[in-house]
Amino acid sequence: MKDKLGIIGCGNIGLQVAGFVKNGLKEKLYLAGIWDNNPEALDKAVKKVKTKPFKSLPDLVRNCNVVVEAASQDAVQEVFSSPSNLKGKRIIVVSVGGVVRNWKIIRPVLEKYGINLYLPSGAVCGIDGISAAAMGKVRKCAITTVKPPKGLEGNSYLSRRRVSLKNLRSEKTVFSGDVYKAIKYFPKNINVAAALYLALQRKIKVEVKIVASPFVKRNIHKVELFSDTANIKLEVENIPSPANPKTSALTVFSISRLLSKMVSPLKIGT
Ligand SMILES: NC(=O)c1ccc[n+]([C@@H]2O[C@H](COP(=O)([O-])OP(=O)(O)OC[C@H]3O[C@@H](n4cnc5c(N)ncnc54)[C@H](O)[C@@H]3O)[C@@H](O)[C@H]2O)c1
Repeated sequence: MKDKLGIIGCGNIGLQVAGFVKNGLKEKLYLAGIWDNNPEALDKAVKKVKTKPFKSLPDLVRNCNVVVEAASQDAVQEVFSSPSNLKGKRIIVVSVGGVVRNWKIIRPVLEKYGINLYLPSGAVCGIDGISAAAMGKVRKCAITTVKPPKGLEGNSYLSRRRVSLKNLRSEKTVFSGDVYKAIKYFPKNINVAAALYLALQRKIKVEVKIVASPFVKRNIHKVELFSDTANIKLEVENIPSPANPKTSALTVFSISRLLSKMVSPLKIGT
């Protein structure tokens, strides 16, 4: 029998992943339905993807054995608020900052209820090597995310501090601090930093810098890691998805690849 998949969040990512499952994985995975707490987004997505709307987030979780969260940090908290509903299930979380934020609640219930939590590498790569280095001693890990000013529009931390990025003529560092502060102030922009931190087994706080640059059109992540096993330097320039320029193609493919890997007998990479 095919596994039943439910997707929470019908925005840029959720919609594209739903489309991939319906077309590319339909032989192996059944898209049982979707959920969004914005009724308009839910209605639109149901019509577009031609699938069933669940009545609520708990309704989706109860009726699916594979769940993709592609919504927000709050949705992650909601998913784990009734952990007994997640017993033996596979949960893919895209809002990785929500896992770091709720780590104290999430960590103990994974083993207690036999939950498999998957965190796709999303908009970055090299998580395999970074996790391997974390088996030994890591001295420092830092990430600089460079974004076009538009990519930071609507951020309330910047508005509160009256930071305007309009007519920016040179690069501007808008944030510098540890991963916890980044998750709090830039919830939509720091999933990569959160994934690095968890890959490092939370042994050291990842240093995060966010730069607004009028010279770039794409989101760029530069990671530097110094350890006793290897020094790693990587840079990923994310190309917007042709289906929706607000999302990086790599993030959507990273989730699609993870789902494909789950249902395939061949597993490449860690
Ligand atoms: N891991 C990565 O590399 C990576 C990359 C990009 C985005 N993300 C994260 O993925 C998530 C989705 O991104 P997106 O671009 O699709 O966002 P989006 O804004 O396009 O869509 C999010 C959708 O989720 C819904 N939603 C929000 N909170 C909800 C809740 N509590 N319950 C139900 N529905 C809820 C919203 O109504 C919206 O329709 C965000 O949290 C984003 O930060 C992660």
